[in-house]
Amino acid sequence: MDCLSLGKAISRIEPMIDLVTDELCFTHGQWESKIWLVEKLEQEIQRHNLDFSDTHVLGSWLGLLGMVMYSRGFPFKHLHNYDLSERSLEKAKMFLDSLRVTGRLTQTQQDVNSLTYANDNILVCNTSIDNIEGSEWFDRIPSGALVALQTRSGNNINDEVNVCNSLTEFKWQFPLKDVLYLGSKYFSYPEFSYYRYMLIGIK
Ligand SMILES: C[S@@+](CC[C@H](N)C(=O)[O-])C[C@H]1O[C@@H](n2cnc3c(N)ncnc32)[C@H](O)[C@@H]1O
Repeated sequence: MDCLSLGKAISRIEPMIDLVTDELCFTHGQWESKIWLVEKLEQEIQRHNLDFSDTHVLGSWLGLLGMVMYSRGFPFKHLHNYDLSERSLEKAKMFLDSLRVTGRLTQTQQDVNSLTYANDNILVCNTSIDNIEGSEWFDRIPSGALVALQTRSGNNINDEVNVCNSLTEFKWQFPLKDVLYLGSKYFSYPEFSYYRYMLIGIK
């Protein structure tokens, strides 16, 4: 096949690949794990009377975490989404329109491994750890920030690059000054099963 034909073929299948990966964002495991994160975070915020300004979501994909937060009345002042994919950010804008129109949404195409923050009184969420190479993004979170992190065990059929094998390994990998919540959830499906691990605390 010559280059021109190959280019045409790729441009024909690209939208189909996008559709398939977009669908994965709204599967059972995605919804349940985001709801789990926001429920636990709300409990810890209330229990410890935590106050923070902006919420930063790293590897925000199609904005599902922001949608769950918004629909539950989560107390965020401003949501910052970061992703490498401009296309994903563009789609997230549609799902998060209620925040956008009230001036509470900022979306940035950005490698989170080079992200800097304007202050430390913030909430940083990352549920895409398994898809992000390296961990510089964690080193860059200011100490004192509230963090909510999720990763998962591997099932060798998805696009994960950085999976985790246990809750203990997860806790050691991302050391926090105060651990407020540490837990795991087992997701079992006919096609595959995996553990999702969650860590909430103060860095
Ligand atoms: C496909 S989603 C999957 C999320 C996660 N596995 C889950 O189950 O919630 C991962 C997102 O992280 C983004 N991403 C990967 N590496 C990144 C980086 N270095 N900086 C910013 N975004 C990144 C990808 O573009 C993608 O939108």
